[in-house]
Amino acid sequence: MSNEDVSNGNANDADMSDADTNTTNTTDPTGRVPGRPLLAGRGLVKTYGRSEALRGASVELHRGEILALTGASGSGKSTLLHCLAGMVRPDAGAVTYDGERLDALPEKRLSELRRTDFGVVFQFGQLIPELTALDNVALPLMLAGTGRAEARERAGQWLERFGVRGQQELRPGEMSGGQAQRAALARALVTGPKAVFADEPTGALDSLASEQVMTALAHTARESDTAVLLVTHDAQVAAYADREVRLRDGIVAAQEVTA
Ligand SMILES: Nc1ncnc2c1ncn2[C@@H]1O[C@H](COP(=O)(O)OP(=O)(O)O)[C@@H](O)[C@H]1O
Ligand SMILES: [Mg+2]
Repeated sequence: MSNEDVSNGNANDADMSDADTNTTNTTDPTGRVPGRPLLAGRGLVKTYGRSEALRGASVELHRGEILALTGASGSGKSTLLHCLAGMVRPDAGAVTYDGERLDALPEKRLSELRRTDFGVVFQFGQLIPELTALDNVALPLMLAGTGRAEARERAGQWLERFGVRGQQELRPGEMSGGQAQRAALARALVTGPKAVFADEPTGALDSLASEQVMTALAHTARESDTAVLLVTHDAQVAAYADREVRLRDGIVAAQEVTA
């Protein structure tokens, strides 16, 4: 309750996170962004058996920001994304979303929050193979209570804007990789999430298709002030981000401004 009170007070906003930062939304040269982040992971630790996927990683994601999470294979990028998206609970550390401790939420509340506030897209879009592109994109809206006709209408508009309206009656297996990823992106964005988690969304695409997917994602993020956590090891893809955080062996090795 108190979280809610303070988060609505603009004047107190900057004081909540860092007393020494100002309230403007500019990025400073060291990669630090002032103001309270939408999402923050602090000191995150996650161990799988004998494998230490995260060893105290901290990262902040701000509204309207595209943050590239880079690093070698096995450095913990996906694990960090899963922790921040509330899909994996860290062994230690805290995940805070909009002032609320995400890692402490009961499963039911967490899955509800994921459905209303988060969108996800993975390397292979994970569209439902039996459904057409249109029905895949309409599904999250229908799960949120939107009627079928309206859901399909809005889904069609998203496919249109991502240049795959002509493929809307195709099933994922009948589309090219790039078309399927753009449909997957439409599905992740159709509900108007506050944060989008994209794990190697262009990892299986050629450079032209990558560019189309990234242009669509970046454009939407800017326009709707959506925060995007983008895992990639492709420098050309990372260039779409405002900021880059590099992981090495489960901890943050470097942060820099890329745009
Ligand atoms: N579900 C899991 N079970 C066992 N080990 C895992 C699991 N997820 C990740 N790991 C291990 O944790 C480390 C980090 O993995 P990951 O977060 O997938 O890295 P990245 O995405 O950077 O390639 C790797 O050594 C990986 O084998
Ligand atoms: Mg990964």
